[in-house]
Amino acid sequence: MTDNDPNSTPGTRHPRTGFDLAEADRLLKTTKQVRRRLDLSRAVPHDEILECIDVASHAPMGGNLERNRWMIIEDPATKQEIAERYVAVGAPYLDGHSQATQDQRAERVIESGKFLIEHLADVPALVLALRLDRPPPAEALGATAAYYGSVLPGVWSFQLAARARGLGSAWTTFHLEHEADVADVLGIPPTVTQVCLLPVAYYTGDTFSPAPRRPAREVTYLNRWKQPVEPPGDAT
Ligand SMILES: Cc1cc2nc3c(=O)[nH]c(=O)nc-3n(C[C@H](O)[C@H](O)[C@H](O)COP(=O)(O)O)c2cc1C
Repeated sequence: MTDNDPNSTPGTRHPRTGFDLAEADRLLKTTKQVRRRLDLSRAVPHDEILECIDVASHAPMGGNLERNRWMIIEDPATKQEIAERYVAVGAPYLDGHSQATQDQRAERVIESGKFLIEHLADVPALVLALRLDRPPPAEALGATAAYYGSVLPGVWSFQLAARARGLGSAWTTFHLEHEADVADVLGIPPTVTQVCLLPVAYYTGDTFSPAPRRPAREVTYLNRWKQPVEPPGDAT
């Protein structure tokens, strides 16, 4: 184990693939959106980020077209320009939600979101995920799914690759309401779409706990809407 995670259960190699399933699942379940535990004092070498992008480029893409692009933003003044747009949208959103929620888990996410509002410009690297072309019209559902489905899997792969290297990141979209302004700041042409901004830094501490999630059987249907998948042994 590289980071002493108590969630680790070593030694369950899949007989055919050779993957250590416990390790693979640990990566998938403990890759969290990291905000408060971003180490703002430690620079992230470009090579680390490029490695994560190399991994991300293996995510599926419609038509196998490599139309995704990335930008690393570490210039302080540029980060500040982005942070201002991020705060303008995020602060009122989170304030509204913190008044509305009684749920402790939701409250923790909101508090963590507020931390990022205050510190976005201090995060060592902002990684912007981009796609060439503009999205199809909203009513073209299939085309929209294919458009975003060709770039967002790479974002998650990036986060997984980063986590495996001790880097935390958080999926953010608040600044996108000011996408055109930010494009202007970064010299991005109007034919290109920003899909997600990932603040990236080494994380502090060693462990992450998986969030509680509903079990697969509760959210999976067999052959027909709402028809359950039979419990083991019940299949005829
Ligand atoms: C599409 C999308 C957009 C999100 N936008 C933001 C954002 O702008 N700011 C933010 O702090 N978190 C954002 N999040 C993170 C979520 O608010 C939430 O923290 C996260 O899904 C909880 O996941 P975790 O269990 O992995 O920590 C976004 C997540 C997704 C998937």
